[in-house]
Amino acid sequence: MSNSKAPLAIDIEAVCLSYGDVSILENVSLSVKEREFLAIFGPNGGGKTTLLKVLLGFVKPEHGRVEIFGRPPAEARELIGYVPQILRFDRQFPISVLEIVLMGCVSKTTLWGTYPRDFKTRALEVLALVGMEEFASQSFGTLSGGQLQRVLLARALMGNPQLLILDEPIASVDQAAKEEIYRILLELKTKTTIIMVTHDLQSILQKCDRLLCVQRQATFMAPEQICEHFAWGLYHLPSAPPQSR
Ligand SMILES: Nc1ncnc2c1ncn2[C@@H]1O[C@H](COP(=O)(O)OP(=O)(O)O)[C@@H](O)[C@H]1O
Ligand SMILES: [Mg+2]
Repeated sequence: MSNSKAPLAIDIEAVCLSYGDVSILENVSLSVKEREFLAIFGPNGGGKTTLLKVLLGFVKPEHGRVEIFGRPPAEARELIGYVPQILRFDRQFPISVLEIVLMGCVSKTTLWGTYPRDFKTRALEVLALVGMEEFASQSFGTLSGGQLQRVLLARALMGNPQLLILDEPIASVDQAAKEEIYRILLELKTKTTIIMVTHDLQSILQKCDRLLCVQRQATFMAPEQICEHFAWGLYHLPSAPPQSR
């Protein structure tokens, strides 16, 4: 049962951030309840990844308040699992799937840079959760797009996060892999708050609780306000007033 006094998973108010002279986030306020599934969409360069980095405490806004489970982002980081946006990486880099997943707890290695045995058990457990356990010793660079994303998701789950942040995890995966990723996320949703950036509005509409359009400013939209123009990359504010919250 949800307790009305439970801290919000995310509570940010009047956040402003710019890189140099360029304003990236302007007066962004939003709150997300525990176990909510929030989808974020918007044009390329709109500030989606930057907003996620603010939540993670990787970048600090010039103005505004940011709280994650009632704490400043840097202090809440152990509660957060993060699946970064894959832009490109070296497929020749010799690293196994298991090693990638173990990086999810790199801050907890021993003095000698090795992982405690129970971390390996946990890594195999999260790989099983995403259906990738038989790939543990395979080279990461040989995986398909969907398999890569599932391994990065496993890595984000290492610390059993209360908040899972995913940046375009279904951008370059086929339909079957997309369905598989959604199946895992909907299972996680019973105990985890999920924030996911995606351009695939068609598939996210039935899965998420709320939608947020980030285009320098952040506007919540109800599913019925999602316009077919958005699929063409033409984002605009809804004609009806946005949901307030
Ligand atoms: N570290 C940085 N320094 C300067 N500009 C940046 C940096 N990171 C992102 N930007 C710029 O900020 C804008 C928003 O980027 P981003 O948050 O990645 O957008 P999105 O994820 O919505 O595509 C873009 O114009 C991008 O070029
Ligand atoms: Mg981005």
